[in-house]
Amino acid sequence: MRDIPFHQDFVWGAATASYQIEGAAREDGRGESVWDRFCRTPGKVRNGDTGDIACDHYHRYRDDIELMRELNLKAYRFSVAWPRVLPEGRGRINEKGLDFYDRLVDCLLEAGIEPYATLYHWDLPQVLEDEGGWPVRGTIDAFAEFSEAVARRLGDRVRHWITHNEPWCAAWLGYGLGEHAPGRRSRRDALAACHNLLLSHGRAVEILRAECPEAEVGITLNPEQVYAASDSPADAAAARSVDGFKNRWFLDPLFHGTYPSDMIEEFGEDVPTVLDGDMDLISAPIDLLGVNTYSRALIEADPETGRPIHVRPMASLYTHMGWEVYPDGLEDLLVRLHEDYGPKQLYVTENGSSYTDVLTHDRKVLDPERTEYLQAHIEACARAMARGAPLSGYFAWSLLDNFEWAFGYQMRFGIVYVDYPSLERIPKASARWYASFIQAQSEMPASRTA
Ligand code: FCB
Repeated sequence: MRDIPFHQDFVWGAATASYQIEGAAREDGRGESVWDRFCRTPGKVRNGDTGDIACDHYHRYRDDIELMRELNLKAYRFSVAWPRVLPEGRGRINEKGLDFYDRLVDCLLEAGIEPYATLYHWDLPQVLEDEGGWPVRGTIDAFAEFSEAVARRLGDRVRHWITHNEPWCAAWLGYGLGEHAPGRRSRRDALAACHNLLLSHGRAVEILRAECPEAEVGITLNPEQVYAASDSPADAAAARSVDGFKNRWFLDPLFHGTYPSDMIEEFGEDVPTVLDGDMDLISAPIDLLGVNTYSRALIEADPETGRPIHVRPMASLYTHMGWEVYPDGLEDLLVRLHEDYGPKQLYVTENGSSYTDVLTHDRKVLDPERTEYLQAHIEACARAMARGAPLSGYFAWSLLDNFEWAFGYQMRFGIVYVDYPSLERIPKASARWYASFIQAQSEMPASRTA
């Protein structure tokens, strides 16, 4: 591993999201988010867990940043809670909410850690959902107000911005499949949400360019490399459909200004109306594409219907989430994104694994599987770079164990263990490995780095 060539300014970081770690759900004027409401809807979140306290990062951010420094992290990706900044979704700005992110950014910079800010990581103000949520175009204007308020306050110090985190999840899990807040189930609404999320991304890019012209701006998707289980035409067609649904429906409009025609046909009358100018807004040039990826999709066609089925090879390893460990998928994905879409820069903005961690009697967490996962995926990044992918950074998901959406606190993705009863942070062995890996990279002689 010591010989893996990453250039000296390659960004090594860790990521989190507001609702998953902050807690302080009713403090300093924060409004209700769709996740507060969803967590209180019986049967939606495992164990009835909520983000009310989460990791209490809102109060412990200084200690958390100190921990990041000890772990040699060069960068930290966080998200801004919209209901803290605009408790009514639009209109009145809650300065106390912005103050928190102001302090966070200052503290990161003092520690020599570069902030990467995500505007939207799924905590929509509930009042906006009550007005129709992401399927209605009015939400785009509200998001523009939110983006402007945040950019004005933090834009003098934050040099890297991500507009949205995984719009596929926000739209499909939230509005199509009902698994995430706000829990609606309509294909038509999900597709309208996709379109409006992309439009709001375009608006935010415009705003960020105006407010912080020096900054690099982009979006994070959750693309997944799709493989057909065989070379039969039926499996290839099923794989192409999954690729269209998860990947091309977002990448094509962002980079080519069109929706893929095969998918327009597949979605039929549920495809949203595209107004004049929409595609220009969506496809405005960006500086970086963020990639959150954890696994791959291996697809075969159902012999009866031809519909895609996800294949789970017996010989593979799986994480606690049941996600197949497949590092080559990350390599192939980064190369594919580079070849098909030509983003100026790629970042892995999330990658990691959940395992059933155990805190030992001497307060250690030994997680060799997570270390192996990290190491194998970092090696995959190196191979992708050798094949030409313009990768600028890697962020481990996640810094801390946290509220894993519908799975509650049961899934532990952190490189740092959180003992929920006491909220104590205990770096896992994987965090120690990552810290020493980053250290070794920074000490590598320049001639050995790419
Ligand atoms: C991603 C999300 C992130 C976390 C990981 C495991 O889809 O962006 O918040 O839940 O998955």
